[in-house]
Amino acid sequence: RKIEALRKLIAEARSAVVFTGAGISTGSGIPDFRSPGGIWAKNRPIDFQQFLSSAEMRREAWRRKFAIDDATRGAKPNAAHRAVARLVETGTAAVVVTQNIDGLHGASGVPDDKLIELHGNGTYAACLDCGRRHELDEVRRVFEATGDPPDCRACGGFVKSATISFGQAMPVDAMERAHAAAEEADLFLALGSSLVVYPAAALPITAKRAGAALVIANREPTDFDPYADLVLRSDLVALFAPYAGAP
Ligand code: OAD
Ligand code: ZN
Repeated sequence: RKIEALRKLIAEARSAVVFTGAGISTGSGIPDFRSPGGIWAKNRPIDFQQFLSSAEMRREAWRRKFAIDDATRGAKPNAAHRAVARLVETGTAAVVVTQNIDGLHGASGVPDDKLIELHGNGTYAACLDCGRRHELDEVRRVFEATGDPPDCRACGGFVKSATISFGQAMPVDAMERAHAAAEEADLFLALGSSLVVYPAAALPITAKRAGAALVIANREPTDFDPYADLVLRSDLVALFAPYAGAP
């Protein structure tokens, strides 16, 4: 019944927003944050002030980053990512807004101009002062040789994974684009997010208020389920495999 309702909403949509969280990538072997065994179950996050506060914190942040990368190396888009890419390709979805930093929406073929990465991208690093890009391989080479991450080659600033930490400013233009897309959406699909981190978590309600149908697909209940037109608790890979096309 619910599967049929989802099919119908997707068939009728012309300007859908697909909003994703870590739950869309667990099927690719990347742990989420808040499930048992998730990343925050092992370690509390290092926030931005802590990162700035000491060389030891920066070393710790980079140790964790390399450990996660080692554990998830080779992760590939799964059927749910492919389904999302198809929704964009066919014009059903106007844009994909993700909280994920794993780069898997891009890897599954969502073009840059249709992809809004609200929390940045963990596949490279950047200088906090001048924004210059630094490759992770190079950061690791220096880290392993000297015991410290390099400072920016151009300006001497701190080099950090190009992701947004708690306490760090969000990319303003990305948030504005996401907000505008939510206001224009006819369908808002919230997939695999606990919907607890703001301002991202406000987007479903923005869309709903502006007239979109709201679908929440997540294994666990969320605080926004009462506002949704359709709530699905199934595994996202199973749910979206029928939309993924040929692998
Ligand atoms: P969470 O870990 O908070 O939530 C992921 C949700 O996905 C959980 O509620 C799971 O039940 C659900 N889930 C996991 N695998 C699933 C599957 N195969 N099918 C269906 N549901 C599944 O992750 P996010 O909501 O993305 O931010 O977290 C938001 C932000 O908090 C992240 O972007 C990150 C984190 O701190 C920053 O680092 C700034
Ligand atoms: Zn710099």
